[in-house]
Amino acid sequence: MCSIIGYKGNEHASSVLVEGLRKMEYRGYDSVGIATIKSGKLLIRKGVGKVAEVNKSLRLDELPGNLGIGHTRWATHGGIVDSNAHPHLACKSTIAVVHNGIIENYNELKNELCRSGHEFKSETDSEVIAHLLEEYFEITGDIRLSMIFTCKRLQGSFAFVAMFNSSTLCGARYDEPLIIGVGNDDYFLSSDILGFLNYTDRAIFLDNRDIVILNDNDISFFNFDGDRVSRRMTQVAWELGDADKGKYSHFTLKEIHEQRYTIVKSMQQDKKNLEKFCDILTGGKNIYITGSGTSYHSALLAKQIFSKSKIHVETIMSSEFQYSSDMLDENSVLLAISQSGETADVIQSVKSAKTMGAKVISIVNIPTSSLARLSDSYLEVKCGPEIGVAATKSFTSQIALLYYVADIIGRKSNGILSSKDILVKAVIQVLELDSQIEGIADQLKHSKDVYILGRSLHFPICLEGALKIKELSYIHAEGMAAGELKHGPLALIDTNSIVIVLHPDDSTYGDTLSNIHTIKSRGAKIVGISNKKDALYDYQITIPTINESLYPLIEVIPLQLLAYHLSICNNGNPDYPRNLAKSVTVK
Ligand code: F6R
Repeated sequence: MCSIIGYKGNEHASSVLVEGLRKMEYRGYDSVGIATIKSGKLLIRKGVGKVAEVNKSLRLDELPGNLGIGHTRWATHGGIVDSNAHPHLACKSTIAVVHNGIIENYNELKNELCRSGHEFKSETDSEVIAHLLEEYFEITGDIRLSMIFTCKRLQGSFAFVAMFNSSTLCGARYDEPLIIGVGNDDYFLSSDILGFLNYTDRAIFLDNRDIVILNDNDISFFNFDGDRVSRRMTQVAWELGDADKGKYSHFTLKEIHEQRYTIVKSMQQDKKNLEKFCDILTGGKNIYITGSGTSYHSALLAKQIFSKSKIHVETIMSSEFQYSSDMLDENSVLLAISQSGETADVIQSVKSAKTMGAKVISIVNIPTSSLARLSDSYLEVKCGPEIGVAATKSFTSQIALLYYVADIIGRKSNGILSSKDILVKAVIQVLELDSQIEGIADQLKHSKDVYILGRSLHFPICLEGALKIKELSYIHAEGMAAGELKHGPLALIDTNSIVIVLHPDDSTYGDTLSNIHTIKSRGAKIVGISNKKDALYDYQITIPTINESLYPLIEVIPLQLLAYHLSICNNGNPDYPRNLAKSVTVK
């Protein structure tokens, strides 16, 4: 949830760190801080706000030195105040630490450290790491041993980078990502390759329970038991760093518009990879699909897509997986869907599926992610970096890929392959509705409650549309299966309600029309997303006619645009909605 970065080399460290943090800000952005070393002295600046704001007021990038660490925070323990921002110093100000994750036993450790005389300056769980390192360094006088002893005491999940005033940079990871960027004369330690991709495309991915120590002329790797380990260098794709807003005012808008290319790109798969993935999938007696948030909505839609291709699958929300995973065994296949590939709930589900003997396959956007590396086989959606916190293009790429896989292995086709060109044209037509939707957003911006109704394949899109509206515009929104309205929620509908109906002229048309009449007679305003004109709608968003199975791919786009414009109308920041982070690496 937070981003961490360390730098050691010949460059001006603080400028490198600030630039890296800017690129990784999607991971968490409520406070930011930097520490560097100059002539054996630790210098630190930190404060509440986004990287650009804090840098403007505190001039983080002017701290001197060629060695430093930095952090952007997404608060879990302790309020959003300067003192809780990282880096955290130990008592003697000779050790500074930045941390991502949660230290579950921090209270117990803090009490113990306080009894030995340590004084804490923040309410965070992370600060215990700095004091533990200090404590063990006093006892052993050895950085490697201090790192090993400290890591062994920590429970929970963590990646941290520690800087000692002897100019040593260290890192360790357990269930949180930490990647080393290897430049010509410098090293980076970062949560994400975006943190250093401007400088180098050579990376070393640390394994769980790895410690790295960077001295003046040496880089060494150990595990938590103190054994030396060796780690391979890999080359990462430069295009992963292509994160620029271009002509758009926000990444979110840019990413929504990129769907004209990304949806079909997800179907360009390497033949061998695809075969392996499909073989594992079809080899399973029971198939389960898991994911969180938007990726879970992809899973829900996948269930319907696969069932149209005559393949039965069950879905399990990743955060609920541990309570309902008993039915998995060695005959099962778990398909995990995740844009980031780092979501803690998803990773945990995959790990428990593996312990039950199930095969794991995944759909990811980041091939170097923990999920991809844990999977027996994975496919990439290839939609490029998604920087906006709300998932947009990754969602449509996931579902296009799921249609593609279902059509390859299923007995009945959804028709995605034969409809590729029509689909691209339809996506472009829907994107052209941007300014009309902006106008509708302006009319709806004061709404308190929005309901989104649809049936069958449209139902997961209702859930996804409601999630987008909630997270971007902070307006309460609920997605519902249209037929469920009469079983309770109708009690909420009155003249103040806004009801968006996914209503293309397909097999769901007639039944949904009856629901619209019911709503209309209660005085609610109706927004119809349909390919068929109808005077019943107060606002109509007309989408093109396409193959009936594929409507989800185009009808979600007006909802994404509506959520984006509602955010702008309500003075939100769609790229960085409050309280959220792009990569949710805590449970
Ligand atoms: C919503 C959103 C989140 C993510 C969820 C899972 O717009 O972005 O709901 O979909 O946190 O993330 P991934 O797909 O990275 O596992």
